[in-house]
Amino acid sequence: MEISEIKKHLSAEIVGEKLFVYDEVGSTNDLLRELMGDGLAADGTVVVSDSQTAGRGRLGRKWVSPAGRNLYLSALFCPEISPQRSSVFTFLASCALVEVFSGYGVDATIKWPNDILVDGKKISGVLTELGTSAGSVDYLVIGIGVNLNLPEEFIHREMDDISEKTTSLSILLGEKVSRERFCAELIGALDRLYGEFRRRGTQAIVDMWIERWGFLGKEISVDVSGEVISGLVERVDGNGFLYLRTDKGDLRRVVTGDTVF
Ligand code: BTN
Repeated sequence: MEISEIKKHLSAEIVGEKLFVYDEVGSTNDLLRELMGDGLAADGTVVVSDSQTAGRGRLGRKWVSPAGRNLYLSALFCPEISPQRSSVFTFLASCALVEVFSGYGVDATIKWPNDILVDGKKISGVLTELGTSAGSVDYLVIGIGVNLNLPEEFIHREMDDISEKTTSLSILLGEKVSRERFCAELIGALDRLYGEFRRRGTQAIVDMWIERWGFLGKEISVDVSGEVISGLVERVDGNGFLYLRTDKGDLRRVVTGDTVF
């Protein structure tokens, strides 16, 4: 990816002010942390790579990261926030993604906690990692993978176990997408929402996310380490935890898991 081409489309204040673009890295999340360790990354620094040799998803899953096709981006945030509120940044990233997809006429939905789907198929995922000391957040690394120009044949050939549940923007639009442009738009959306967070705090992001997510008051099922909890979503708190009212009448708090559709 061409850094000049990304910058051509970029309008942001903090996020992407420092932008590093690589051809190949292990994982952009790890590289960003290394840059930070070397004093080269600060609040808002973004790392993008053309490919990843060790791209990872949540819960130790692999993130398929071929060269020249997708977006692999990590952004560093150094907010004043408690560690238990860090998933608010996953929400922030999800809202930014939905916003960018809608600019392409694509109606993306959020699957709690970190998947972005179109027509029930995954197009993007967010991996939030954090560094803490003395009970507070030092930094958050928000890693975002977006399937941009993955053709159907590639998905079927290389992603057998998840191929039925995977899509890409080019499949949806029927044409290739400029990765640089999408990257700049995503950085712009992250920047705008980060500004919103700084001005109005975590609740503003959670409220926006709840609206985009659309499952408040609806029945969902969540797989929590093998136990499936089903219930009506009664509320989502400022930490991003879900409160499900089961049909037995219990209120279950869900901190992490995977939504089951
Ligand atoms: C998931 O859905 O499980 C999260 C996927 C996150 C993938 C991105 S790609 C850029 C960044 N680097 C990584 O190694 N992972 C994230």
